[in-house]
Amino acid sequence: MNLTETEYSDANADDLSRDGSIRIHTPQDFEGMRKAGQISAACLDMLVPMVKPGVTTAAIDDAVREFFLDHNALPATLGYRGYKHSSCTSINHVVCHGIPNTKPLKNGDIVNIDVTCIFEGWHGDTSRMYAVGTINRKAERLINITYESMMLGIAQIKPGNTTGDIGAAIQDFAESQRCSVVQDFCGHGLGRLFHDAPNILHFGTPGEGEVLKEGMFFTVEPMVNLGRPDTKVLADGWTAVTRDKKLTAQFEHSLAVTKTGVEIFTKSLCGFDRPPYT
Ligand code: MF3
Ligand code: CO
Ligand code: CO
Repeated sequence: MNLTETEYSDANADDLSRDGSIRIHTPQDFEGMRKAGQISAACLDMLVPMVKPGVTTAAIDDAVREFFLDHNALPATLGYRGYKHSSCTSINHVVCHGIPNTKPLKNGDIVNIDVTCIFEGWHGDTSRMYAVGTINRKAERLINITYESMMLGIAQIKPGNTTGDIGAAIQDFAESQRCSVVQDFCGHGLGRLFHDAPNILHFGTPGEGEVLKEGMFFTVEPMVNLGRPDTKVLADGWTAVTRDKKLTAQFEHSLAVTKTGVEIFTKSLCGFDRPPYT
């Protein structure tokens, strides 16, 4: 398939209105999200053997685009608000929205790869950290703390709990480990839209925020830093970095509130939850 950029943008168009209300989805909608989520998760699985010293993030981005097209899906980021790539690749002190380029990855880098597909109108948005070659102990520790914080946030999800319960669980754990949580970017509702209500803050106070209800779809995608939480966006308009240039990490799942808890749409079917992916 060889779509032009305009065609991608059209396929991506956010044609549903965002009125701030939080959508409640049907069992059929869950089916759509399961398929989209599985394609995005399988894409991240596919990248595991490719993320090695010497590979460029542009080559990774090409592989993501081809994988999605091969699965009859579109990369949601391609043409999204002027973004021209099929993934975000955020290395070391890059917090999020790193732009793929032709510079090779180096031994010891840590990289977040964030992919979103659109399949039959549904969005599957997920990211994981990858270790390039051998990484140092503090990078490994940060990756583990970030993964644990995401899963502790997700563990709070059930009807009657609130978005504040999710944020508080993430923040409490990250800070207990002498890390900080980025406050400038958040998770989001998704479904037929890429970014919808509610905002999912990765910090907060238990009991505050929106009350969770069965049928809500959203992401949890904490960014955790070894240093200060402050970020800035570079002149390219996308790349967000830590102001103190210390390491940062992120994981992301797309999920639903169910009758009794949570369903994760973007789980790896081969157990590639966090590095090392063996
Ligand atoms: N996938 C990102 C998220 O988690 C959004 C990337 S938008 C882009 O919400 F334009 F930067 F690609
Ligand atoms: Co997201
Ligand atoms: Co994402």
